[in-house]
Amino acid sequence: MLLNLKHKIYVTLFFIAFFASNLNAQVLDPEIEEKVSALLAQMTLEEKVGQMTQIDVGVVTVMNGQDVDQPFDMARLEDAIISHHVGSILNAPSTPNNKAQSIEKWRNMTQTIRAVAARTRLKIPIIYGIDAIHGATYTQNSTLFPQAINMAATFNRDLSFKEGEITAREVKASGIDWNFSPVMDIGRQPLWPRLWETYGEDVYLASSLGSAFIEGHQSNDLSAADKAPTCLKHYVGYSFPINGKDRTPTSIGERMLREIFLPSFEAGINAGAPTIMVNSAEVDGIPGHANYHYLTTILRNELGFMGFTVSDWEDIIRLYSRDKVAASPREAVKMAVMAGVDMSMVPFNFSFYDLLLDLAQRGEVPVSRIDEAVTRILRVKYQSGLFERTEPTIAVNAHFATKEAEIINRQAAQESIVLAKNDKHFLPLSKKASILVTGPTANLLSVMNGGWTLTWQGDDESLYPKNKLTLLEAIKQKTSGKVTYVGGKNYQDEINIEQAVTEARTHDVVVLALGEKPYTETSGNIDTLNLPFPQLQLAQALFATGKPVVLVTFGGRPRIITDIAQQANAVVLGFLPGMEGGVAMADVLFGDINPSGKLPISYPRNTNDIVLYDHKPMESYAPNQYNPLYPFGHGLSYSEFETHGLTLDKTQIQVGEGIEVSVDVKNIGKMTGKETVLVYLNDVVASVTRPTKQLKAYAKVELKPNEIKKLHFTISADAMSLIGVDMKRQIEIGEFKVMVGNESVNFNVNEK
Ligand code: BGC
Repeated sequence: MLLNLKHKIYVTLFFIAFFASNLNAQVLDPEIEEKVSALLAQMTLEEKVGQMTQIDVGVVTVMNGQDVDQPFDMARLEDAIISHHVGSILNAPSTPNNKAQSIEKWRNMTQTIRAVAARTRLKIPIIYGIDAIHGATYTQNSTLFPQAINMAATFNRDLSFKEGEITAREVKASGIDWNFSPVMDIGRQPLWPRLWETYGEDVYLASSLGSAFIEGHQSNDLSAADKAPTCLKHYVGYSFPINGKDRTPTSIGERMLREIFLPSFEAGINAGAPTIMVNSAEVDGIPGHANYHYLTTILRNELGFMGFTVSDWEDIIRLYSRDKVAASPREAVKMAVMAGVDMSMVPFNFSFYDLLLDLAQRGEVPVSRIDEAVTRILRVKYQSGLFERTEPTIAVNAHFATKEAEIINRQAAQESIVLAKNDKHFLPLSKKASILVTGPTANLLSVMNGGWTLTWQGDDESLYPKNKLTLLEAIKQKTSGKVTYVGGKNYQDEINIEQAVTEARTHDVVVLALGEKPYTETSGNIDTLNLPFPQLQLAQALFATGKPVVLVTFGGRPRIITDIAQQANAVVLGFLPGMEGGVAMADVLFGDINPSGKLPISYPRNTNDIVLYDHKPMESYAPNQYNPLYPFGHGLSYSEFETHGLTLDKTQIQVGEGIEVSVDVKNIGKMTGKETVLVYLNDVVASVTRPTKQLKAYAKVELKPNEIKKLHFTISADAMSLIGVDMKRQIEIGEFKVMVGNESVNFNVNEK
């Protein structure tokens, strides 16, 4: 037992309700249901099919690329809403208006749309959707948070909840109704160019943080002025392409689906997400948009999802044009709708509308199926309060880009940065040191924000706010020592290595910022995780000077840094820390905050050595090993922490019972800091192979030097379950092992 027990902490835990799916089916409001049926009864087939149609805003805007105040071609807007009865509009990548615009313009735009919808026969509102995946993406000066991979590195549910709250508020203040976020895909393929849009490789962590985001974004009342519906994406299996390229096939068996890829969506549904976007790729030969088993059998019948599904970009027609599972566009529409897609992100024409109308008129798609889809869409529109809203219901003042939001954003960025290596306590740096700052990611905001920032790819540096600081600018602001920069204006600019080397010789330390340029989706496909050669050359030349080097990285994927990390005195992994990333990184480098980020992924040592932390026994059975450069959960602090005294409340339990876990965590260093304690479980012998360990609980606590806190966790019965030989979820009797830090304790599950 440890002495000086000053605090006792009870950690509120989040659980994935594995068994409870049917019980947890989304609850319906009878009043809303009545309104939905009454409205549906008045609708023509055309109006119904229109509700299922979503177009890109480019279809109804003036396509001259001009930044005009009133971007609509009113005739086209009326044609879409009044003649084609469209149910939804989205803002998307390839249209002239798809770059950040002022909040006033957004409010006007969405207001115009609302006004046209109010002139239709039944006055059904349009639901306007946007990818606000780290804040209100396309609204100038919005609060843009660290991307999801960073939010995962914070291991802080509270921050994820607050991100949800602030994002919803700023989306609503922009006049927008619906957010295509969070990404609940599990990021287990480091080459995949959307890895950073996920909460990393672990099922429990992703479920926990994604649900917190949803709770903050929606609360219990979607119709509240500052709340908005979320959209879980991309259901399901999208994130695990075999070849690492976006929108390419995977092959996920039923067990792996239910163990790894489904639970986060289930958690999102249970947290109340009312919409789901469909996987743009394919699983085991079945394109996501044609997968009845996933979209209907599992999603609706098993998980009790009561909201609506929306296709991803152009994906229904791709069943014909790309996948060749449909012989015509018409067949593609029928296939997708019958599989369970409720709304089509068409997005550039009315082909879906025309084809579905014809299919329904000829009885090839039953009207009952159309009614089901429209019921779901109208339900979400009522739940979201869209029928009552005639203008943006929230003022810009005090709700948009507030100081408070900026402070939370900065905290999120700070807590998301991972100190991976710190030889001989090289960091924090002295504020008097003379520093050479160099490297392609040192002086750009875009490299810290990634895709979905102001534009789709996030790479238009000229649109970034002038008052946000790059790493270089933040370093300059903090220090009194000489700071010299050698680098280009763009990521692509070749850095003059000779000049960097000459400058390095006259400075105390080099801060070398490497990494990736921003990207998302297929534009970010790569063939190797290796860093571009010029970056490695620059690093080697700087090491050769003998000057100490702090390696900082930004980017969405774990690019291979094994060799250069070994030579660097310190390594700080920034990933995509968002608009406050420069300041937050400087806060870490100079010790203004104590780093507390932990890796939500296994950082590979070599490009082809991709083993995840929750691997199967044979993946670490000699000569195989789990040998990443930095393991899942790794992250240093300027202090040191240890856990001790791992105990369980019982060593024998019955099937269906949970177990209480306690452990003390102590700050044995000299600085106050935050530590995340991770609780892992292993099912020692089972009828199907089990991961060597799996995260089942975590808690982040702040501790002063010498302070000890006792943490209590519950491992629920659900958390002990597996998908058995019969593909059913079950708990098997026998031995289990709980692991925290260097300690482990076993318990037995016995028959009832
Ligand atoms: C992406 C989605 C996104 C949609 C709308 C698609 O290409 O895969 O994640 O929500 O575009 O912008």
